[in-house]
Amino acid sequence: MRTVEWDNGVVKMIDQRQLPHRFEVAEFRDYREVARAITEMYVRGAPAIGAAAGFGLALAALQSKATTFEELVQDLKAAYDVLYAARPTAVNLRWALDRLMHLVYSLETDDVEAVRQALVAEAQRIADEDVETNKRMARHGAELVPANARILHHCNTGALATVDWGTALGVIRMAHEQGKNVHVWVDETRPRLQGARLTAWELMQWGVPMTLIADNAAGYLMYSGQVDLVMVGADRIAANGDVANKIGTYKLAAVAKDNNIPFYVVAPTSTIDLHTPSGDAIPIEERDPREVTHVGNERIAPEGVNVFNPAFDITPARLVTAIVTEYGVVRPPYEENLRRVVEQTERDRRRKEE
Ligand code: MRU
Repeated sequence: MRTVEWDNGVVKMIDQRQLPHRFEVAEFRDYREVARAITEMYVRGAPAIGAAAGFGLALAALQSKATTFEELVQDLKAAYDVLYAARPTAVNLRWALDRLMHLVYSLETDDVEAVRQALVAEAQRIADEDVETNKRMARHGAELVPANARILHHCNTGALATVDWGTALGVIRMAHEQGKNVHVWVDETRPRLQGARLTAWELMQWGVPMTLIADNAAGYLMYSGQVDLVMVGADRIAANGDVANKIGTYKLAAVAKDNNIPFYVVAPTSTIDLHTPSGDAIPIEERDPREVTHVGNERIAPEGVNVFNPAFDITPARLVTAIVTEYGVVRPPYEENLRRVVEQTERDRRRKEE
């Protein structure tokens, strides 16, 4: 199944907190529960969060008792605020919600039932397009991967982080299917261990050769000539090319630069935020100290210890060799070239709407 699905008025999600030990599917009939599932990371990964929020707003439309267009818009705005607040860093969440609200305002009907159905259809389109977009990125990105490449990867950017297929891991999967004989160094990705739990699980299912490493091993591997390229995803890319991604990404980029290793970011144009001028303006989520004091359910730090737990960091654009999007590989100057691909996306969308 897909990571997030709409099934006849019910939102279904793979409960990623249980993987790799148990494969469980959670069902949601209330948009507030969808917001909670995003916060608690049943679903995670920027594009998957966007799709889940989209379905959440569609649920809110079905839940609403509104009988007039104005009442429905009121209810949708309230749901927007709840879903928007679920997690702050991945811009795909806001992108999906804005796309749906834009649709509501641009419909040439104020028939409440028609608006509800249009929202459900658009949320489904967001999910379907995500899969298509990922496959386009994979084809562009695979061109950057040489035969026998040893690739270092951080966090989880696979099918589980999207609706299906994945971003950076999607590129790696494509390169593997093209017979490039790739090998992946999988960062475990403390504190939530998305690498050890989810990326290892996905790569093993796909049959991609991989080795799990402690995050702290990455620098040594790069220094000792065992990494040909680093490939990661993104939660938000600012207009100047600064990249917010899972905590620890910046350290990888800095060490890659020091060792002349290309550092690639793979992300759809829905992750590019031209309204945010640079990384300094990207909100960085801070999560529960328990993620650091515990591994799984086991406490490893003394009771009462002080903890700081930022979930993301910023990699400055100067450390990013290229950004792979569904419109091709974007290279510096990012300010100019990111704007170009975003404008192209908007032109394509307008053409499809006509
Ligand atoms: O906290 P998470 O697991 O949601 O963080 C996910 C990441 O940082 C991914 O690298 C990013 O969302 C891109 S996923 C296609």
